[in-house]
Amino acid sequence: MSRVREHWGSKIGVVLAAAGNAVGLGNLLRFPSKVALYGGGAFIIPYLISLTLLGLPLMWVEWVAGRYGGKKGHGSTVGILGLITKNNFGRLLGIFGVAAPLLIVFYYIYIESWTLGYALHSIVGNMPKPLPTSDTDEALRPFVEFLKNYTAPSLEAYIFFWITLLLNWYVLHRGIRRGIELVAKVGMPLLLIMGVMLAVVIFSSKGPSPEWSAIKGLEYIWKPDFSKIFDGRVWVEAAGQIFFTLSLGMGALATYASYVKEKEDVALMGLATASTNEFVEIVLGSAIAIPAAFLFFGPASIPELASAGTFRLGFVSMPAVLNSIPLGFFWSFVWFMLLFIAAFTSSIALTQPMITFLEDEVNIPHSKAVAISMLIVIVGAHLSIFIPGYIDELDFWAGSFILLLFGIIEIIFFIWLFGPSNFTNELNEGSILKIPKWVAYLTGTVSLAFLVIILVVWIFQNLPSLISQQGLGVWLARTSILFLLLALGYLTVISAKEKE
Ligand code: ALA
Repeated sequence: MSRVREHWGSKIGVVLAAAGNAVGLGNLLRFPSKVALYGGGAFIIPYLISLTLLGLPLMWVEWVAGRYGGKKGHGSTVGILGLITKNNFGRLLGIFGVAAPLLIVFYYIYIESWTLGYALHSIVGNMPKPLPTSDTDEALRPFVEFLKNYTAPSLEAYIFFWITLLLNWYVLHRGIRRGIELVAKVGMPLLLIMGVMLAVVIFSSKGPSPEWSAIKGLEYIWKPDFSKIFDGRVWVEAAGQIFFTLSLGMGALATYASYVKEKEDVALMGLATASTNEFVEIVLGSAIAIPAAFLFFGPASIPELASAGTFRLGFVSMPAVLNSIPLGFFWSFVWFMLLFIAAFTSSIALTQPMITFLEDEVNIPHSKAVAISMLIVIVGAHLSIFIPGYIDELDFWAGSFILLLFGIIEIIFFIWLFGPSNFTNELNEGSILKIPKWVAYLTGTVSLAFLVIILVVWIFQNLPSLISQQGLGVWLARTSILFLLLALGYLTVISAKEKE
């Protein structure tokens, strides 16, 4: 007897859950550093082109794939791609859409747990204060040391990892409607309110120099450096950011979409997901971390802060700024809770494909499927916690490479194997917008070609430096662990009994 699959409780619930899936650390930390590093306002050109050519089409591909699979009882890309080829070939390729999000969770959940630990430190007034000097490095030293000690890993970081993990487990155990949807309905409005509050506080604060203001910081970040758009790296970074921020090529949106009702308007849902994510990314993402750093440390500090990346902005400069203003302990708490909510709604989304896979393809009951998935996350997260540099390794494969590769696979499957007409009909089924068929052709040709070029350039740009950083031996050893995990996934898929 086949199990009855769950459905989302309301339209607004689906949109908020999908927005929660997409909005994450990528919006608030990864985006501002990329803009500051790769040409300011000029970055927005490749970014918007990527959003139009890759982001929106793939968003629709994932929504169509998910609702189509869900109707037939398959919510993970293993089952969904299997429906297209009607054999194991599709199912085997579909494993990327289960493995990639889970591999991302291996590090994402650990970083998420830092935000919770930092929120607690902030509210009890236990964060350091920046040193009173005009040398930014020196001023930030207490925060750099704090982060280093915290992530060493400290016992405390380890305890917060477990708390975060159990919270994820609990919500996922409660299921789609009573767990994920409820969290999104409370979390997403809260996230927007907290984000706007922080932006207002930063823009109304005074820094140490009358020359520096948050408005100037915003101008700084958006000042276009058009010479950068001729740099291939900028295009690759922009496209990579679109994939990561919109949770594309991860299979996670397709899994969420598999729980919509049969006639749900997926064209509109896809648009709503993308617009909410882009609002948070472009408006809040650029109005908080960089303007705050500019206000306190001036323009000279920005390139260095941005190139030191996500952690430096999120866990060093932001708490340093916030702990220097009135009621700083509270604003620092708000900042880390904002990050926590953003990360939490994404980590549950990235774990769900595995749960859905176990339920739909291996016929494992819900609680057991959640338990197995969480056990895998526990093992994987320990690699991130205890092996230095593993986060980079995972981010390299799962946070970038597999997403682009799986995006290519999804387009080939849903535009070319499924057929442009079938795709367009599926997309327009139940939709108030009527998306013309040329969109499918454009996706299958221009978007596909663009994506292939981006992937090739990305490999040439990133692989040699990763290997030389780690040394060939270490790199091979670490990479083999990942491929071993994928191989295990393949074995599970092959041995799982095929439905239908
Ligand atoms: N899309 C999620 C983020 O931006 C994974 O963090």
